[in-house]
Amino acid sequence: MIKMQNSNKPNSRRKFIITAAKGTALSIGLAGMSELLPACNTIKNIPIPPGISTGYQQQPLPYSYDSLEDVIDKLTMEIHYTKHAATYTKNLNEAAKAEGVDIKKPLEDVLSKISKYSVKMRNNAGGHYNHELFWKSMRPKTNDNKPAGNLMIAIEKGFGTFPGFKTQFNDAAKNRFGSGWAWLYRDASANLKIGSTANQDNTLMDISDIKGFPVLGLDVWEHAYYLKYQNKRADYIENWWNVVNWEFIQQRFDAI
Ligand SMILES: [Fe+2]
Repeated sequence: MIKMQNSNKPNSRRKFIITAAKGTALSIGLAGMSELLPACNTIKNIPIPPGISTGYQQQPLPYSYDSLEDVIDKLTMEIHYTKHAATYTKNLNEAAKAEGVDIKKPLEDVLSKISKYSVKMRNNAGGHYNHELFWKSMRPKTNDNKPAGNLMIAIEKGFGTFPGFKTQFNDAAKNRFGSGWAWLYRDASANLKIGSTANQDNTLMDISDIKGFPVLGLDVWEHAYYLKYQNKRADYIENWWNVVNWEFIQQRFDAI
């Protein structure tokens, strides 16, 4: 985890430079999907690495609407991206203008102080942030899809086994009553945790019961799966693992 106050120590400084470089590489590697920001922002002991913050504009979908077809159908993707998510972005910008938010600053700044803003801001800042993360967290289906390297080691350390981790995450997603999200996040001690939030809340919000840097998020609103899966949320969750972009999740894991 980045400790800014220790960055004058050789090892810590080296680690910070490496981590910052990774954040920059992530931003450049995912051109157009992240905004390169000038400083490392710390939100209530949760460091937000430079280059990984989310801006206020909807970024292009990194694949076509039919790319995830076996798991998420084309019509669902199109409606989800162009209607639901686009509306969150539009309403977020309306709320930001009305409430005097400087949209040149990271959206994470607002999320960390969301209790000071309107319900409209809470719902739409969360909705925009969560969906921007969600699109990037997926890619076309691959066989034997799973994490590798230090991320897999951390998952096994935290949850026993990868299948055991998936079971716990699935339970968080299945048991979220109504609409919301399941999360894999790093808490203030950089430990991996699983949890869920209601509606469009997320783990960066000061009002959230679970707090940390979101590494992976799953949308379990019915608009994300109902056309293909109807009431079978569990089937959607199980299939979704086939399209998780573990390289992107690895970058988020490494960045903090
Ligand atoms: Fe959604």
